[in-house]
Amino acid sequence: MPSFYFQTFGCQMNIADSDDLRRELLCRGYDETSDPLCADLLIVNTCSVRENAETRAKARIQEFGRVKKNGAKLWVTGCMAQRLGQRIKEKIKTVDRVIGAQHNSDFLAHLDKYLPKYDHTGVPGKLHNSPGDYITVMRGCENFCTYCIVPYVRGPEVSVPASEVVSKVARRVDEGVCEFTLLGQNVNSYRDGDIDFADLLKMVASVPGVRRVRFTTSHPKDCSEKLIKTIAATSSLCRHIHLPVQAGSDRILSLMNRRYSLDHYLGLIEMIRRYIPDADITSDIMVGFPGETDDEFEDTLRLVEKVHYTTAFMFAYSSREGTAAASMKETVSEDVKLSRLKSLIDLQTSITKKIYDSSVGEEFEVLINGRQEKRERLWMGMNNGFKKVLLSCDSAEAGMIFNVRAVRSSGMTLICERITK
Ligand code: 5AD
Ligand code: SF4
Repeated sequence: MPSFYFQTFGCQMNIADSDDLRRELLCRGYDETSDPLCADLLIVNTCSVRENAETRAKARIQEFGRVKKNGAKLWVTGCMAQRLGQRIKEKIKTVDRVIGAQHNSDFLAHLDKYLPKYDHTGVPGKLHNSPGDYITVMRGCENFCTYCIVPYVRGPEVSVPASEVVSKVARRVDEGVCEFTLLGQNVNSYRDGDIDFADLLKMVASVPGVRRVRFTTSHPKDCSEKLIKTIAATSSLCRHIHLPVQAGSDRILSLMNRRYSLDHYLGLIEMIRRYIPDADITSDIMVGFPGETDDEFEDTLRLVEKVHYTTAFMFAYSSREGTAAASMKETVSEDVKLSRLKSLIDLQTSITKKIYDSSVGEEFEVLINGRQEKRERLWMGMNNGFKKVLLSCDSAEAGMIFNVRAVRSSGMTLICERITK
């Protein structure tokens, strides 16, 4: 049986895309291997969001080109494939095929054209043992934040029909999945006729067998009160809102073309806390945008203090060719970017620790994701917000939900024990 090896860089949507493509290969009778040296087909699904992501993907593609076995094919998919197209093949001669992120359907055509089908027994079941899965509900972005390559590589917004989302969720439930994360670059733009994103969340939450629903990412300029109220009113919708702020000053937000003010953002945070007092709020934050002064960076730190995010993804600005910000004068040196990033990470880490420490004694539900590898009686999981949990108990299985009490905090994990309710 021929085999394939898949390597994925980047965001959750790339992971979900890779999973879809892996399923197609399994359906065609291919086996998945964990050893790239043995594979007949190697696929690298790439990311373009920062230069560093592209550098790592290119290094990996080059390495695969060197080590792949004789006759094996090397395909490159995803955002970097979309951005650079056939230029990748010119630079790395060992690449056989380049299929951009907007052309995933071409992947299937390529499969049928260039790879033989093999006899196989039925449709593949679950791809992994995790009780959670990602479901893409909309693709693309039309916001054109000035730093961001996504609108160029992922193209305009397209929503997946609600009936398709619901039937995909129902199929995954049959495979044993119980937690779903709905994905979109900007979920608030979801539309299917009269159905908006809050309606879609409710539809998914009411599919039999669905225990938990999460989603990402919301744009602060169009995160609605209806969405927040829906989460507050529906117990299987997780108490977590990812609301990327990016920067803490109105001037930088405007240069970024984010189209909201700090006041608007803080108003949303206040609304979330009012409707969902126990919500975990998380963010994406960037330092070193062209023109960012020391004072404006301090504004970002002050904002982070004020909001008290449970966690945040933090980045140094990376210029992306073709974006509006790429033609702005870079005023922040790499050294300063890195030292700002370090200060920001230090601050956020201390806030995360405070939030975790103050959760000791609380009771909540935890969904088990799997066993902690190094320890016999420890299980990893997540509460119904966005807090990581280690559950100490004799026996458990991925997918089980327990009532627990937090007995200790490591600063980034809550160590919990089961309680009976
Ligand atoms: N440089 C640094 N970070 C970026 N992001 C997007 N584009 C860039 C860039 N050019 C970050 C944003 C976004 C997250 C997914 O990646 O914070 O929300
Ligand atoms: Fe990029 Fe802005 Fe769209 Fe997010 S909303 S994908 S940051 S352009």
